[in-house]
Amino acid sequence: MSPEELKNTYPEYFTPALTKATNLLIERGEGPYLFTTDGERYLDLVQGIAVNALGHAHPALVEAACAQIRKMIHGSFNLINYPSALQLAITLRKLTPGNLDMFFFTNTGAESVEGGLKLARYVSGKSGSIAFRGGFHGRTMGAASVTSSNVSFRKHYAPFLAQIYFAPYPYCYRCSFGQQVETCHLECLEYLKEDFHYVIPRENVSAVLFELVMGEGGYIVPPEKYVKALRQLCDDYGLLLIFDEVQTGMGRTGKLFASDVFGVVPDILVMGKAIGAGFPLAIVASTKERMEKWESGAHGTTFGGNPVACAAALAQLEIISQEKFLESVRKKGEAFRNRLKAVQQRFPEIGDVRGVGLMNGIELVKEGKAPDPDKATFIRKYFMEKKILVLSCGVFKNVIRFIPPLNVEESLLEQVVHTLEEALQRSART
Ligand SMILES: Cc1ncc(COP(=O)(O)O)c(C=O)c1O
Repeated sequence: MSPEELKNTYPEYFTPALTKATNLLIERGEGPYLFTTDGERYLDLVQGIAVNALGHAHPALVEAACAQIRKMIHGSFNLINYPSALQLAITLRKLTPGNLDMFFFTNTGAESVEGGLKLARYVSGKSGSIAFRGGFHGRTMGAASVTSSNVSFRKHYAPFLAQIYFAPYPYCYRCSFGQQVETCHLECLEYLKEDFHYVIPRENVSAVLFELVMGEGGYIVPPEKYVKALRQLCDDYGLLLIFDEVQTGMGRTGKLFASDVFGVVPDILVMGKAIGAGFPLAIVASTKERMEKWESGAHGTTFGGNPVACAAALAQLEIISQEKFLESVRKKGEAFRNRLKAVQQRFPEIGDVRGVGLMNGIELVKEGKAPDPDKATFIRKYFMEKKILVLSCGVFKNVIRFIPPLNVEESLLEQVVHTLEEALQRSART
């Protein structure tokens, strides 16, 4: 079959349930680029949706994975120990915030979110959870139960897990309470506190599940004072705080974990995406005391902690956890945001520029902050014409997110800014 014919088989063989953003048939990836089967090169600012922290096919990761493949591809961590998984845990213990020093290895973000929720239920003996409006935690039933980034992810799947309550996320650009972040009294958190009188029986709640930068929901950065106050609320009310760092983890925010950006340690930390260096690996981390209460056989997995994924993860951590590397992420991110803000000065349809480290987005709006998904689509398509891949996010799909590899060259980010300006000029003319 020719590549052209092969490309067109997709709708014939696969359910449309998985939305596909492009129809590209890709042969290989290298660093920040993807190459189609007919040799066209695309700058990839999606990177497997925040997975390839060091871009495509980084030589050190390829080497580590191949070396492990030659020894053993799978043995199941249920049955045997192997060095790559044990070494990864030893290394991670030194790097995770606070005393989150025991782990459960899984395969995907959703599976780890479920693991975190199950751990919280198990050790607290309570079944309720609090999640946030706009949050995304995955597609399996438990993870979908705590997800609300778009109602289409929930349609036709009810009933969900019982006793899930949704609190307002601190989305300051669109504060539901009409406040300004500099002067607000965290009215959104007060709302949650009030809910404990109206709808949430506190004694039934095991955990509060929070994204430190809301990903799928629109690349929204909460104020530090909110995250600190949420920690305090959990302490005061005896609730376990779970940070879903599936998207924010592994240096994306300029610290190894976004928890370090906000200076707040959760009770349970959930990792995914970039941790596996492109292989399916995800992790639940918590304190030794809590993890040891999770008795033998209470949870399990066949593929979790796959040896190849762990070997690649270790090799990647060696590079990413270096302070110099993380500092470069912070610097590049800040410079990029400043450039985006300069573009915003000339194009008011960019309502908001926000992000941390190299996790950045722009929110496209019309007059009076009305979401403008058409403008976002126009820009995304223009980028595609210029052979740059970007994704949108947010409940109205009016946010464009930029997810370059963390080792991206600044000249490429400059190219992105330049293309954005062109796209906005072009859209003004159409
Ligand atoms: C914050 C967050 N949590 C969980 C998930 C689910 O991860 P996975 O798709 O690997 O199940 C995602 C995926 O986008 C995510 O962004």
